[in-house]
Amino acid sequence: MINLDWKNLPFGYVKTKYNVRCYYRNGAWGELEISSSEDINMHMAATALHYGQEAFEGLKAYRGKDGKIRLFRVEENANRMANTAAYIRLAIPTVDLFVNAVKKVVQLNAEYVPPFESGASLYIRPLLIGTGPQVGVKSSDEFLLIIFVTPVGPYYKKGFSPIDIVIERDTDRAAPLGTGHVKVGGNYAASLPAQEKAHNLGYAAVLYLDAREKKYIDEAGTANFFAIKNNTYITPDSTSILPSITNKSLMQLAEYLGMKVERRKISVDELSSFEEAGACGTAAVISPINKVDDRENKKTYQFCKDCKAGPVSQKLYEHFIGIQYGEIPDPFNWVTILEEK
Ligand code: PLP
Ligand code: COI
Repeated sequence: MINLDWKNLPFGYVKTKYNVRCYYRNGAWGELEISSSEDINMHMAATALHYGQEAFEGLKAYRGKDGKIRLFRVEENANRMANTAAYIRLAIPTVDLFVNAVKKVVQLNAEYVPPFESGASLYIRPLLIGTGPQVGVKSSDEFLLIIFVTPVGPYYKKGFSPIDIVIERDTDRAAPLGTGHVKVGGNYAASLPAQEKAHNLGYAAVLYLDAREKKYIDEAGTANFFAIKNNTYITPDSTSILPSITNKSLMQLAEYLGMKVERRKISVDELSSFEEAGACGTAAVISPINKVDDRENKKTYQFCKDCKAGPVSQKLYEHFIGIQYGEIPDPFNWVTILEEK
C-alpha cells in the first residue's frame, strides 16, 4: 500500500496510477483501455464542452478489516448512468461494460484503497462524454467512457457530525421536468452560485425546494434529504431530485430494522415536526443535519441536541457503513467482494 495520510484525507483529487477508458466509435464500444495519463485529448468542438453532453457517476470501494475490497451496489450506478445517457442522448454503456470497467480500475489501483482503520474509502468517478465535434445543437456520434479513482475522506469536513444547511429561494438547481433526476454536470454548474453563497454564510450545504411552488423539499446540492418521525423514515418524492442509491438503500435498511418508510412530498413547514433529519449520498454517506435555516422567513429548524446525531440516524449510519466495510452481514447482497490481482 502506498503511503498517504489516510486519516486526514479531504474529499479531493489524489493522483493514482491508472484510469480506464472505452471509446464508442462507428456505432460500437471498443475494448477497455488502461491509461496512466491524467489528460483527455479531444476535439475543441466536442459536444461535452459546448452543450454539456456529459454524464457522471460516483461510487466507492471500501477495504474491510479482513483486507478485502468491497464495491457497493455497482450495478445500480451502471443503471443510473444508462438512464442519464439515454436522457441526454449519449451512447449507453452496458451494465457489463460499466461493472467490468469499475472492477478493473479498482483492481489496478488497489494500493490506493484506504486501510480499514482510516475510515476513508476509494471514490470511483465514471465519466461519459460526447467527444465528437458539432457546432449545431446535436448529439455527438463519438463518446468516451472514462473511470478514475481517488482516495477520499469525508465530504463535509466534520464527517459524521451534524451540519448546518440553508434553504435556497433565489435560484433553482433543477426544474420539475428538467434534468434533476439524471446525473449531468450542468445540474452542478447550476448549483454553484447558491453553494458559494451558503458557504460564505457558514453553511455546509444548500437545501433546494421544488422549483414550481417553493413549498416542498427537494434535496441538498449533492445529497438526498431524509427525516425521522415516529419510527418512520421520510424522504421526498420529486421529479427533480436524483434517485440516490444511498437513500434507496437506507429505505430498505429502515424497513429491515422495523421502521416505516414514507416517500412523499414534504412541505417546508413539516420540518418543525421532525425528530431528526439528514443528508445522504455516496460522498455525504449519512450527514446528520443540526439545523436548517430558512433565512427569508426568519425561521430555524433545529434537529440535534448538544450537536450530536439523533439515535435513529446513528443506528442507520452504523448499520449502513457496517455492511459497506464488511463488518456486519449483508442481507441485501449489496456488496461485491473484489478479487485482488
Ligand atoms: N443527489 C445529488 C444531487 C447527488 O449529486 C448525489 C450524489 O451522487 C446524491 C443525491 C446521492 O446519490 P447516491 O446516494 O447515489 O450517491
Ligand atoms: C456523490 O455523492 O457521488 C456525488 O456525486 C457528489 C459529488 C457531486 C461530490
